[in-house]
Amino acid sequence: MPTVEYLNYEVLDDQGWDMDDDDLFENAADAGLDAEDYGTLEVNEGEYILESAEAQGYDWPFSCRAGACANCAAIVKEGEIQMDMQQILSDEEVEDKDVRLTCIGTAETDEVKIVYNAKHLDYLQNRVI
Ligand code: FES
Repeated sequence: MPTVEYLNYEVLDDQGWDMDDDDLFENAADAGLDAEDYGTLEVNEGEYILESAEAQGYDWPFSCRAGACANCAAIVKEGEIQMDMQQILSDEEVEDKDVRLTCIGTAETDEVKIVYNAKHLDYLQNRVI
């Protein structure tokens, strides 16, 4: 069963951490954060990441649930998330910036690390509903 380690983007802002810090997740693990902001999810094969977070009682952002906005966006820092057809992110955002939509995204590797709540990034703000 794939494991998704997650970190809330708002924590980066609060702590002054950068998305590209090499030790981002190590720092998060040591920071005594609430389970809402940092932790791991067990996801079923083929299960959407957003649904699995909700099943475990978390309130992650979303709007359309269909790959047409950027509310549910996350940045993949390790591993891979496969998306169903989406119509909102550019190729550059997907391939270079590793943005994924959690409402239509499934874990492709056994271990995945993501920064969720990435809708607050400047370049995604214009597509948040
Ligand atoms: S909620 Fe709109 S793309 Fe995921």
